[in-house]
Amino acid sequence: MPSLDIFKIIHNRRSIRKFTDQPVTEEVLKKILEAGFRAPFAAQLCSVVYTKKPDVMDELRRLGVYSTTKVLMVFLIDVHRLEKIMRHRGHRYDQDDGMTLWLGVQDVSLAVENVILAAESMGLGSVLLGNAPLNADLISKVLSIPKRVYPVVGLCLGYPDPSEETEIRPRFPLKCSAFEDSYRDLSEPEVQEAMQVMDEGYLAQSYYVRLGAKIPLRKGKDDIGFDRYSWCEHISRKFCQGRWSKDPLVAILGRYGFRGL
Ligand SMILES: Cc1cc2nc3c(=O)[nH]c(=O)nc-3n(C[C@H](O)[C@H](O)[C@H](O)COP(=O)(O)O)c2cc1C
Repeated sequence: MPSLDIFKIIHNRRSIRKFTDQPVTEEVLKKILEAGFRAPFAAQLCSVVYTKKPDVMDELRRLGVYSTTKVLMVFLIDVHRLEKIMRHRGHRYDQDDGMTLWLGVQDVSLAVENVILAAESMGLGSVLLGNAPLNADLISKVLSIPKRVYPVVGLCLGYPDPSEETEIRPRFPLKCSAFEDSYRDLSEPEVQEAMQVMDEGYLAQSYYVRLGAKIPLRKGKDDIGFDRYSWCEHISRKFCQGRWSKDPLVAILGRYGFRGL
């Protein structure tokens, strides 16, 4: 086991989307998963199903699974298990599902980050897949997931392919995200600085060029080429064009037995 510098691991981490052929052993996986479940929890609402089988990953390709992935993990909010425990104690679940799902997202998020960092510490790389919730029907069919269990996020894992260039993506300056004692509205120069750090960073790394993807503009002529298609433009197009509605998610959650959302 390599000696650990947690700050080095955190600061060097970047999403990895291409992996070598080296398999991930059960022993390594067990270590990583045990670290995952050592995360703080609200109600131990997190479960995970993982697979090393290429044909299973193929069936789940719609999640955006990268083709060289060696292990695919799907992190779940598991109310089913909690209800079983409660029944053993003679209780019946009587809770707002919206609130329980909220706690579930918290539990899953903490466990996933532990898994990511534990994996990094053992030389593995990973990338999250965020569209699992909307693909719950497919995931539950392929991975035999029962009602009252809901996928939150996927994680592709493997040993990073050194032939693939990867870079550390920028973040907002700390002063724009961390405030002592009370929330502080950013000044205009700070907003500019936050935008500049993100935009210059992403443009310098040709992030969207390499991805070959821009979110199309719904209205008007798109005269922003890849040379100016920056992170702030991307995130604005994501959140300002009415693309998202919670309705499909609520409908799928309903099919998995979650009510009153
Ligand atoms: C909830 C979540 C979902 C994500 N989904 C995807 C995804 O579907 N495909 C992908 O390539 N990257 C995905 N990512 C990775 C982000 O693009 C990445 O974390 C972000 O660009 C910052 O880059 P970094 O991880 O290299 O620091 C996701 C990240 C999060 C936190």
